[in-house]
This record gives sequence, structure tokens and C-alpha cells, in this order.
Amino acid sequence: MKGIVLAGGTATRLFPLTIVTNKHLLPIYDRPMIYYPIATLAGMGIREVMVIVGGKSVGDVVELLADGSHFGLDLTYRYQHGALGIAHAIGLARDFVGDEAFCCVLGDNILLGDPLATVAAEFEAGAYGAGTLLYRVPDPERFGVAEFGPNGEVVGFEEKPAVPKSDLIPIGVYFLRAAAFDVIDRLAPSGRGEFEITDVLNHYIPDGGLYTQVYGGHWADAGTVPSLMHAAALAAQVDAAGRLPAAPQRPGRQAAG
Ligand code: G1P
Repeated sequence: MKGIVLAGGTATRLFPLTIVTNKHLLPIYDRPMIYYPIATLAGMGIREVMVIVGGKSVGDVVELLADGSHFGLDLTYRYQHGALGIAHAIGLARDFVGDEAFCCVLGDNILLGDPLATVAAEFEAGAYGAGTLLYRVPDPERFGVAEFGPNGEVVGFEEKPAVPKSDLIPIGVYFLRAAAFDVIDRLAPSGRGEFEITDVLNHYIPDGGLYTQVYGGHWADAGTVPSLMHAAALAAQVDAAGRLPAAPQRPGRQAAG
């Protein structure tokens, strides 16, 4: 399986923090934000990862992550012009993915405490076309929101609904296969002018091709000031319990000093 991290976008919700820098470089507790999604993919046993970069300080993102060897990964990069949405960004990885299954993690999604190797293996071994992880939040209207049928099955996702149909959201971890690129090619932009990942997930629901699992660890996005603070507090809490792995150091850099 291959991996993708999305680290583009303009991050206007974090202005002025992100006027001159890339959101994914901001600190979450003791490390840059982008270390978390990278670690999420590494924890699945994935080795080849493409980072889709865009917005500010792209060179700094590349300098920080370099070839990925300090994460045990083989990293490659692709540049995204503009901010046309998650599905558009994933579409840029078509040649990199080839015929393989892949997992895309959003660069501002912080997952703590529940490695996903089993989930990734289950998706890959199954007949699913797409998969995502669900998480219960107090403010679902900020996210994609799952709607459930009478037997507890997901019947659809709505992006940022005014009236959410549940409090379970798809977090920014998406399992897909190469066939998803054709689905992305046929998408129309949403009302906010973006190619939405929830539309890609919805495509797979009628034929039972969507894999979902409620995430058992702690999760936060870090795209707004309150959620950035919350994510840092969660990481500190996990560290205090001795369960936060040390941040990998870049080759040639010392941990202290
Ligand atoms: C995106 C997705 C949304 C998902 C969320 C998770 O929202 O569109 O479906 O629930 O990530 O972080 P965004 O942060 O781009 O507004």
C-alpha cells in the first residue's frame, strides 16, 4: 500500500499564524504538525509516501521531511496549485499510486494512540473501493457528517451540513484504490468550489463498497486555533502517559541544543 499526505491549502482559518508559513509546520506540542500524519502512515507499515505540498513555505516542508529516512519512509513530493479540495489533491498522486491501494491522511489530522496496521490490512484484503474512519465530535457541522440507516450502516456523508444527521464524522484518513482516480475525474465541484472527498466516499456506498471503522484512539484536526490548542493538549496528555513515541530527528541534527 502507498501513502499520501496532503500539505497544501491556504489555512486562512489560522490567520495570522499562517500568513507567511505553512500550517503543517506549526508546532503541535513538541513537533511540527506534519509529523503526526507521517507517523500515522508509517504505523500502517506503509513505506512509500507522496507529500502533496502547496501554499506557503513549501521549501521548508521539503527541508524538514527531506527523503523521509528518519521516519523509515521513502518520501516524494508533488506541488498542488491553488486549493481545489481534497479529492483534487489526491488526483495529483495518480502516477505515484499506479495500480496499488493507498491511504491518504490530511496533513492537519492528529491521530494518537491506536496504530492502524490492522485497519489498513483489512481494507486491502477486502473487496472495498474506499474506506474511512469515524469519530464522535461535539461540533459535527464543521466536518463531513455520516448519516446512518436503520441497521446502523452508513448511507451517506454530507459535507459541513447546517443540520448534522449524526455526531460521527469521517476523519481525514481515506483508504482508496487506483479506480478512485476515475471517480475523482468525474466529480463536480461543490458549492464551496472544491472537489470533495465526501463525494468520493458516497460513490462507493450504494454497492456496499465502503469500509468504515470507528477510530479507537484520540483524534483532533488542527485547522483552527481552538482545535490547534486541543490537539497540542491531547499530545501532551498522551506523552504524560508515556505513550507518545519520540519525534524522529532529521539526520545530521542533534536532539538537544
Ligand atoms: C475535511 C473533509 C471533512 C473531514 C475533515 C476532517 O474538512 O472535507 O469531510 O471531516 O477534513 O478533518 P476540511 O478540514 O478540509 O474543512
